[in-house]
Amino acid sequence: MTSGGSHPGFARGRRLRSTPALRRLTAQTRLSPADLVLPVFVKEGIDSPRPITSMPGVVQHTQDSVRKAAHEAAEAGISGLILFGIPADKDPVGSQADAADGVVNVALQQLRSDLGDELVLMADLCLCEYTDHGHCGVVTPAGVVDNDPTLDRYAAVALAQAQAGAHVIAPSGMMDGQVAAIRRALDGGGYGELPVLAYAAKYASCFYGPFREAAEGAPQFGDRSTYQMDPPNADEALREVEQDLAEGADAVMVKPALAYLDIIARVADEVRVPVSAYQVSGEYAMVEAAAANGWVDRERAILETLTAIRRAGASSVLTYWAVEAARLLRR
Ligand code: PBG
Repeated sequence: MTSGGSHPGFARGRRLRSTPALRRLTAQTRLSPADLVLPVFVKEGIDSPRPITSMPGVVQHTQDSVRKAAHEAAEAGISGLILFGIPADKDPVGSQADAADGVVNVALQQLRSDLGDELVLMADLCLCEYTDHGHCGVVTPAGVVDNDPTLDRYAAVALAQAQAGAHVIAPSGMMDGQVAAIRRALDGGGYGELPVLAYAAKYASCFYGPFREAAEGAPQFGDRSTYQMDPPNADEALREVEQDLAEGADAVMVKPALAYLDIIARVADEVRVPVSAYQVSGEYAMVEAAAANGWVDRERAILETLTAIRRAGASSVLTYWAVEAARLLRR
């Protein structure tokens, strides 16, 4: 299969690679600004944006700076933002997650009134940024994350985020039954039209390390391996996805992305709903660190990893490079 007819030695495959325009024409996977969603962190009680050491170029925003970032994101042509809040006060049940004047709910209100429907405003729904123990749910006295009482909290948070103006609710806590509980709460609260994007296949990954600095949500004891998925498991991802769809999820997510391209591909093959992938903080940090050392070409790494995630089958990608990648794609 290597010969090219009357030109022996000139491989058939190379004919379509000879110019940039030919390569562009024949590219099977396309990446565009519209595929991208930017995660943003908003912190209460700071008066200027704070850099995150392990994620060079990413900051914890103030309410003002997040508005500016949102305008830039819209300008760059990406499709949406996903918001994470860091409250000034944390407690065992994460009260600030559903307080109407809680940091993320205030940000949602402002952004919705600034931007209307120009960007899709996604609300990450979890408790780990809001609890003093750093777990994604409420915990028993024995220190175990308690599934069903957590669902009641998630239902309240979903309603608060809907009221604040979120366009999409994205539960990331990996509690069993979370999608059903949230769907029920939204429907009961008059938000039947609001979609749920379920973090369906979310693995207990080391690649969330930098995020825990960014969102200040590291567990104070134990880890997340009793609720997030175990990295060796693939079939289980399909079960999680199936379950979330049965509970009413409108779209599903696989997370992290780069080390789980096989999972993205299998999920995309299996379902007929949009599949997003989250290129997480550790994936960002790895490339930034290597690029800072001159070991990989930063811009090429950004576009190559994003293209790979799309090639695997993700219809959209959550990435900290969303705005920059959108600009690279346009030039
Ligand atoms: C909260 C949440 C996490 C991430 C997104 N939502 C952290 C975690 O599960 O520990 C990670 C995102 C990233 O690493 O960029 N449950």
